[in-house]
This record gives sequence, C-alpha cells and structure tokens, in this order.
Amino acid sequence: MSYRCGNPGCTADNWHASILRIGLLKRQCICALCKPSVFNKQAGCDYPVKRSSSPNPTKVVNLVLAIKSHLESRRREHLEVDHVLRKLDVATSADGHHFGSQTAPSMHRNALLKALRNVSTPLLEPIASALEVACEELPWRVDRGLFYAGEADVGAGYLNGNMHCVLVGPDGCALKSDDLLFGLFLLTPQTLYRDHNHKAPELYLNLSGVSGWRFGGGSWRDYDPGTILWNAPYAVHATRVYGEPWLSIFAWTDHIDSICNVVPADDWHDVETLLHRDNDG
Ligand SMILES: [Fe+2]
Repeated sequence: MSYRCGNPGCTADNWHASILRIGLLKRQCICALCKPSVFNKQAGCDYPVKRSSSPNPTKVVNLVLAIKSHLESRRREHLEVDHVLRKLDVATSADGHHFGSQTAPSMHRNALLKALRNVSTPLLEPIASALEVACEELPWRVDRGLFYAGEADVGAGYLNGNMHCVLVGPDGCALKSDDLLFGLFLLTPQTLYRDHNHKAPELYLNLSGVSGWRFGGGSWRDYDPGTILWNAPYAVHATRVYGEPWLSIFAWTDHIDSICNVVPADDWHDVETLLHRDNDG
C-alpha cells in the first residue's frame, strides 16, 4: 500500500507506506523524510534523508568516524590502512570546519542510492547507515578533468559516469588535513575508469558493487565489496564497473596535489563495448 505522506518531496507514486497498529489503525509512512533512521532499502525511495537548511558537518564527521572505525577493525589486514588511520587520527582530533559550499548529488543521485541499497556486507552496514544520514550534506562533485592534465584522454564513459566527494582534505571539507585526501567515489554502471597512475599513494575500500581491476596493464580481476585495494605511487591501475554502480572510499595519503596521468592501452574500446554488451538489458 502506498499513499502520500504529506512531506515536501514525497509523491504518491514513489513513496511507500506501512500500516502500524498503535491502538487505533494508524498509517505511517516509512519514507526517509519521515523516518530517516529506518530508511527502507527495499522500498525504492529515491530521497534518502531530509535535507537540512544548512550543511551539517556533524553528520559528515560521524560518517568519517564510522569509516575510521571499520578501518581500525582491519588494521592488521593491510599495512597501508595504518597509514590512513594515523592521518585520520590527526584530522578527527583537530577542530572541524564548515563546508565552503555544498552541492547535492543531483547528477548521479539514482546510482548513489542504488549503491547504498546494494550494501549487503554486514561489516559495511554502519558506514552505509552513516552515509544515508549524511548523504545530502556532502559536497559531491563530478570530475571533468579536475585531477588530470588538460588533454588527458579519460574517455566519455568516465566523464559521464563519475562522482566524488572529499570528506577530509585541505579545503571545503568537514575535517581538515593538508596531507590526506579522503572521501567517497562513485562510478555508474558500465563505466571504464581507464588505466592511469599518480604520485599519490592510494587506498580504496569497496563498499558496493563488484568492480574489475587490472594493475600494470595485466589481467582483469574482480573484487567484491569489502575489499581493500592499494595503489603504490605511480602504479598503473584501471577499474571497470559492471551492471551495478560501484561505490567506494578512497584515500590519497601523500602528495595530494599531484595529478593523474592516463596510461594508454589499446583495448579501451573493446572493454567498454563488452561492458555495454554484457550488461545491457
Ligand atoms: Fe587512482
């Protein structure tokens, strides 16, 4: 059963309702506008949290703390996690500051929410829940060459299929750091993130969606949500995304003002063709 809950943004077609018996028969919408803490991942709601009138860094700090807590539980799995955690310790113990600006995740909103609904690994649930709450507070941006030299051939697939936000960094973040860039990165389905490298050492924590990776131009291998990946400085890597959006945590742990270099490969067109062929329909 569905009905209009009356909140701005809630439409009868998209919002779902449950019937709760509390003394009298009482209708209660479970859309996130009404009950963000019980955001129903199965309901198909496409607006995860009630948007506040001004950015709320506390929600974003809580998200960072949730990610940090997860990484702490995996400190022994990966030496590089310790490197990230040391920098997060410094950032989270310093005074936070408000965003310089805020943008909503309008361009890839549906992909982001799909990725959130797809989070099914219990260990990642606390991060997903904190992200649902903070989602609309985040300064999402689409990379249109921001991290690349002017003529870099990143490809239309990447340009049209990426979105990120920086949670910890030098400017415009809830938490400040001059030597750590830490945030969320989303690629939409059927996207090839072409082979590239950078001076910055890079850690990824996959949150949602199986992603294919190759390193140094080698063979592709798929990685599940929960996987931690590490790219050493100048190590060449590429990522491909299949039928579901890929959402991840990323960290650049040094040289955060360095740029990415596209490393040409002769199979980009073939890879992209296969991604579309295998995942269409
Ligand atoms: Fe990278």
